[in-house]
Amino acid sequence: MMQPRSGSLRRWLSRWLAMLTFLGLGGVCLAVYYATNLNLQTRQEALLQQKMEVIRHLVDENAATGDSTTLRHKLSDFFYGRPDFSLVLEIDGAKTAFGADIAEDEDHAHERRIMFSLPAPGTPGDAMHAELVLDITSDLHLRAALAWTLIACAFVGAAAVSGIAALLVRRAMAPVDELGRQAARLAPDRIGERLDESGQSEEIQPLVRQFNAVLQRLERAYVQMEGFNADVAHEMRTPLATLIGQTELALSGRRSEAVLRDVMGSNLEELQRLSGMVNDMLFLSQADRGAQARGVWVDRLSEVLGEVADYHEAEAQERGLTLAVSGEAAACIDRPLLQRAVSNLVSNAVRYADAGSTIRIHVSHDDEHALIAVSNAGEPIAKEHLPRLFHRFYRGDEARGFDANHHGLGLAIVAAIARMHGGRPFAASEGRDITIGFCLSARKITEN
Ligand SMILES: Nc1ncnc2c1ncn2[C@@H]1O[C@H](COP(=O)(O)OP(=O)(O)O)[C@@H](O)[C@H]1O
Ligand SMILES: [Mg+2]
Repeated sequence: MMQPRSGSLRRWLSRWLAMLTFLGLGGVCLAVYYATNLNLQTRQEALLQQKMEVIRHLVDENAATGDSTTLRHKLSDFFYGRPDFSLVLEIDGAKTAFGADIAEDEDHAHERRIMFSLPAPGTPGDAMHAELVLDITSDLHLRAALAWTLIACAFVGAAAVSGIAALLVRRAMAPVDELGRQAARLAPDRIGERLDESGQSEEIQPLVRQFNAVLQRLERAYVQMEGFNADVAHEMRTPLATLIGQTELALSGRRSEAVLRDVMGSNLEELQRLSGMVNDMLFLSQADRGAQARGVWVDRLSEVLGEVADYHEAEAQERGLTLAVSGEAAACIDRPLLQRAVSNLVSNAVRYADAGSTIRIHVSHDDEHALIAVSNAGEPIAKEHLPRLFHRFYRGDEARGFDANHHGLGLAIVAAIARMHGGRPFAASEGRDITIGFCLSARKITEN
């Protein structure tokens, strides 16, 4: 009720301000009305008292002579020219009225009366009954006029405040409308543009800043995606050119079946690599779209690592390398995915390790995570390159030229698999000791 959930802020504010103003003005008007009313009543009381004193004085003066005719004359004279007053006296058992003839009404609403007794003329000790009446019609008119004026004031005031509030809100909102127009002009081909926060109020500025920060992030993602497209095209161009070249060569002139077979065999290899790259890219895009690993609880991760090590054994032996698995942890994992990630790490290590050294595959854990790290001795990696290792198509040895088996997606896939397991990758290079690995969320999901 207090907050405009939806709908117009302007209407909400002007309605509330109108209501509050009406209440406030209404209170003030009531107070003015009652104060004035009280004032009128006090004045009427005072007038009656004063006239009563004068009449009493007249009657007292007359009491000595005891002549009721003189008294009547004097009283008539006294009330002459005082149209608001009248007096009813019981002289000698008869009621006599003096002064204006005040219209008799049932409930005496238009008059104010006071009753008192006076000494009867001529017969000291006897009292006569007197009733002094004041006509208050003019006061009642004044009071009514005042009431209507005050009610009108309250309504007009509330309406004015409500209108002014609506205008103010409209003015305050004008820059926001301008923001809307600016936002509408934003387009994908003008990705670098931002909303202008100057001219916005203090309250709106943080919102604009947040919005601009979102734009910034979107721009970064957009640029990255565009870069990714360029990378993909770049990566595919060389193998495709090779394929076309070899095929054209094979088609030109007469070739023996053996040569053709050879060309086709080599083309097939190239196509398989391309297909591998496309599959890797598909996998990464699925991971980007939030695909999650289907986890199975594994108590002994070292066994899974051992299998991967066995798979790379022959390759390692060729370079005189030793593979050593150590440590233990338990985690909820997607076995094939985890094997793929570790396999990527081990094949990198086998490729970059100093000949004859040992590659250590170590698994450990803390309260929340299982950690898998593959370390090898080799050329140090510059600090600034460490975070970029996990970017798509990043290759430290670009200078070596195109290598169809190593298109720089291996560690990007490791990072994606880590994320699919609620973890993230890490890389460190200290001296000639290089460690690359990742952590996984190791919380056991209770089966029900
Ligand atoms: N064990 C390692 N020692 C040194 N450099 C490494 C190691 N692992 C990865 N790198 C660097 O990270 C880059 C990216 O690795 P990766 O994503 O697996 O791509 P690729 O193996 O296809 O080159 C590699 O080109 C290499 O420069
Ligand atoms: Mg690799």
